[in-house]
Amino acid sequence: MSNTNIRIEQTQQSRLPAVDFDNLVFGKILSDHMLVAEYSNGNWNEVSIVPYGNISISPSMSALHYGQSIFEGVKAYKLNDGRVSIFRPDQNWERFNKSAARLQMPEVPKEIFLDGLKQLLELDQNWVPSKDGASLYIRPFMFATEAALGVHPSDSYKFIIITGPVGAYYSKPISLKVETHYTRAADGGVGFSKNAGNYALALYPTELAHKEGYDQVMWTDARDHKYIEEAGTANLLFRIGDTIITPHGDTILHGVTRRTIIELADKWGLKTEQRKVSVAELIEGIESGAVTEAFAAGTAATITHISKIGYDGKDYELPPVETREFSNKVFQYLNDLRYGKIEDPFGWNF
Ligand code: COI
Repeated sequence: MSNTNIRIEQTQQSRLPAVDFDNLVFGKILSDHMLVAEYSNGNWNEVSIVPYGNISISPSMSALHYGQSIFEGVKAYKLNDGRVSIFRPDQNWERFNKSAARLQMPEVPKEIFLDGLKQLLELDQNWVPSKDGASLYIRPFMFATEAALGVHPSDSYKFIIITGPVGAYYSKPISLKVETHYTRAADGGVGFSKNAGNYALALYPTELAHKEGYDQVMWTDARDHKYIEEAGTANLLFRIGDTIITPHGDTILHGVTRRTIIELADKWGLKTEQRKVSVAELIEGIESGAVTEAFAAGTAATITHISKIGYDGKDYELPPVETREFSNKVFQYLNDLRYGKIEDPFGWNF
C-alpha cells in the first residue's frame, strides 16, 4: 500500500483557534484530524484521514468484551527551524506489532503506521506546540471490531491515530509506593505489551496508593514482590554508585525513552546495567547514600524525578533534584535534541 492510497477528507472548520496552548491538560485536546484504517478478510484496506470525531461501534464488538485492544504513545516536536519532527516512531511501530502478535491481532504495516502518521501530521502540523516542554502527543491504537460474543480472535480490526498538544504529564517530582500485594504482570503474561488491560488493572492499586499520599505505584514481581518492575505509566531507572540501572525482562514495557537513555549513557561512557533490581538493594542503597538518582522515563512522562519511595509503612527520601547529575543532563540533552537545538547524530528525529 503506498501513500497515495490514503483518502483525505479535510475538516471544514479547524478547532485550532480555540485552543489555549498555555493550559494544556494531557489528552484532553485532540487535533483536527485522525487516521483510520480498517482490517477485514485478512487485509488492511480503506485507509483514510478524516476530521476527528465519534465512531460507531456495535455493543457486541469483541474488544469491549475480551480486550483485544493495544496502543502506543509517540511524540512530535516543533524544531528550532520550524519543521516538525517525530521522535523515534519506528521504535513504536515495532513495539506495536509485538503487542499485536501477543494479543493475536494483525500487524499494522509501516506504510500505514509511519507514512500515514507523516501525512496526518502534515495536515495537522500547526497543532504541534512550539513552547519549550510542550509537544504533540500521538496515540496510535488498534482494537477488535467483530460483532461476536464467542471467545476467539476477531476477524476485523480498526487502527486509528489521534493526536493532541500536551505539556508535561507530571508537573513535579513524584512519590511511589512499592506495591507488595497487587501484581501488574507475571512471567509468560502480557507485561511487555501495551494492551489496554495493563492500564485498567493498575487503576485500583493506584487509587489505594493515592489515598496513602503517593502519586504512583512501583510494581514488583508477581512471584515474591521482591524485585522492582516499573511504574505503570513509565519505566524506572536508578543511579546506584557509578552505574545507571534499570529493571529488565518481559514483565515490563520496553520503553523507547528508557532505551534512549541507556543508549545515551552507554555513549557517554557511563556504566549501565539492565537487570533485576531488588527492593532491598534500592532501600539499602537509599539509606547508605549509594542511590543518588531515581527517575521515571516514558513518552508521556519524559523524565520525571522520583522524590520519595514508600515501602512497608516507611518513607525513603531521595537526594535533592538539583544534585542529580545524570538525569538532569540526559533530560536537558534529550530536550535540546528533540527541539532541534543541537544536532541529532543518531537519526532519532524523523
Ligand atoms: C506513554 O508514555 O505514551 C504512555 O502510554 C503512558 C500513558 C499511559 C500515560
